[in-house]
Amino acid sequence: MKVKIHTLFQYLLDTTQADPEAFIGFSLAEPPKLGDFLDDLDPDMSLDWNLKSFRGLPELRQRVIDQAGLAGLCTADDVVITAGAAEANYLAFMQLVQPGDEIITETPGWPQIEVLAKARQAQVKLVKRDEANGWDLPLDQLENLITENTKLIFLTNPNNPTGKLLSAQDLRRIAQMADKVGAWLIIDEVYAGLEWTADRAPSIAGIYERGITTGSVSKALGLQGLRTGWLVCQDKNMVMDAIILRENSSEIMNVMGEVIAEVALRPDRLSKALDDARRDSIATLEYLDRYITSEPKLSWHRPEAGLIGLARLSAGIDGDLFAKRLLAEPYKTFLLPGSAYGLSNHIRMGVGGGASAKLELGLSRMSELLAKW
Ligand SMILES: Cc1ncc(COP(=O)(O)O)c(C=O)c1O
Repeated sequence: MKVKIHTLFQYLLDTTQADPEAFIGFSLAEPPKLGDFLDDLDPDMSLDWNLKSFRGLPELRQRVIDQAGLAGLCTADDVVITAGAAEANYLAFMQLVQPGDEIITETPGWPQIEVLAKARQAQVKLVKRDEANGWDLPLDQLENLITENTKLIFLTNPNNPTGKLLSAQDLRRIAQMADKVGAWLIIDEVYAGLEWTADRAPSIAGIYERGITTGSVSKALGLQGLRTGWLVCQDKNMVMDAIILRENSSEIMNVMGEVIAEVALRPDRLSKALDDARRDSIATLEYLDRYITSEPKLSWHRPEAGLIGLARLSAGIDGDLFAKRLLAEPYKTFLLPGSAYGLSNHIRMGVGGGASAKLELGLSRMSELLAKW
């Protein structure tokens, strides 16, 4: 079956032309400029393929291992550089899941795997995060969903859209559950690096032999346009299968993305970028938290990590209608409705994007609309 559009992408398509004046939905740190990297780039660099490896630039693969704390657990040969975490998820899913297989994913969560599973005619089971309990992932419920037919479990950590974290202990327990039936476990870490309530969680590729870590430079580093991400897995066949599928789609990585991402992940540069992003983001997150606390028609569980969270609208306010009115004149403010995650009474709020997002302006317009509702 062909891949069908998801509500989240439909909303983005419908609103691309809207030209908003403010954003309350940015999910990534303020993007650096090309000029920030020029001193570290070689003008004589060839724009051919990297000429070194079909897995991706070796130096970049080592940086990926180091930034994830995987040194000593995984090697650079366990890494495939991909066009973002999105391609990493795609390659892993398509090579692992066959029609009729059972997969488990979370709701609310990143919809990519559910969309692919439907097209693949795999059976999807959803583990429901518990809003009353701060969007906790109920591990007992997950355990009950797992059967001998479970081929793959896909989770995000930190979770998109709630910013909830899984701890090292949670991850070990989930790996044990998966191991009992030989299931693969993808943990998408695209939002890792900006944790507010705990240290960054360990990567699953270092915990479980059938664990696949996916990630990218898109979110905490704001480098989404580079289209550079990765997949890490200790299973040599899985890694080779990903390379084989990639050879038949995008073939190889874009060398500019690889080279700039390698510079961005150099330890000094990475720690400064994360420090800056943390400083700016936490201040904005506190501001948003105060706003939501003082707004009687909104409530939320403040995200434990990352730049986005889900807010609940008071009863009777439809998230879709609200997001569309807020985007229209005179408010011209963008946010993502909860329907993108199957929740009609919620909206996704985000604090990324830096000053150009004009969050303050967006929130004041949102208050005007809420007051009229
Ligand atoms: C959980 C999750 N995974 C993957 C992606 C895709 O990210 P990338 O730009 O690395 O492909 C996103 C983008 O929003 C995301 O939220």
